[in-house]
Amino acid sequence: MRWKFKMKIQQINQQDRKAIDAFIERQWFSLQMVVHGESIDLSLADGWFACENDFILGLITYRIIDHEMEILSLDSIHEKMGVGTALLNQAIAKAEESECSKIKVITTNDNLYALRFYQKRGFNLVRIYRNAVDAARKLKPSIPLIGNDGIPLKHEIELEYMI
Ligand SMILES: CC(C)(COP(=O)(O)OP(=O)(O)OC[C@H]1O[C@@H](n2cnc3c(N)ncnc32)[C@H](O)[C@@H]1OP(=O)(O)O)[C@@H](O)C(=O)NCCC(=O)NCCS
Repeated sequence: MRWKFKMKIQQINQQDRKAIDAFIERQWFSLQMVVHGESIDLSLADGWFACENDFILGLITYRIIDHEMEILSLDSIHEKMGVGTALLNQAIAKAEESECSKIKVITTNDNLYALRFYQKRGFNLVRIYRNAVDAARKLKPSIPLIGNDGIPLKHEIELEYMI
């Protein structure tokens, strides 16, 4: 099937921040993302969103520390239409332009679709943080015990894309 949206990719700006924050809260039930024991405020994160007119189709947020980009979130609400890939490519281009050496991303053990998605796009599995989600749940109790496909949600898995 061919792409049927007139998708635009835009950098997050102050004008769209309210709509972006509402999108994040709908997807993650909070603006706080807990990764490897750190609580990160996504309302302060840079990134890009995919939209059709005023409707947000997807969002990627990131940070860059010491020439390493970390993807903090990636969400597409119209899956399998190219939204996730377009956003990821935008982040890769930014990492290259910023002379980053790598891009890191953390996902969870239940997220088989994300593991597939990232590995098919050049990311490699590099680390597993055993029981990290159990620790994150203490900071963010809304994280469910059971994740996708009924899989117990327990571990964080780190993937890396070398530039
Ligand atoms: C992971 C995620 C971001 C992928 O987003 P997406 O918009 O579905 O990604 P894409 O559409 O670009 O690619 C997905 C598949 O659809 C295919 N696709 C893209 N356009 C298509 C089209 N027009 N017709 C049919 N298939 C298409 C892609 O080729 C890809 O398949 P492949 O991996 O076998 O190549 C999305 O599933 C998601 O938001 N998941 C929940 C949040 C999450 O887990 N985020 C990641 C952890 S940080």
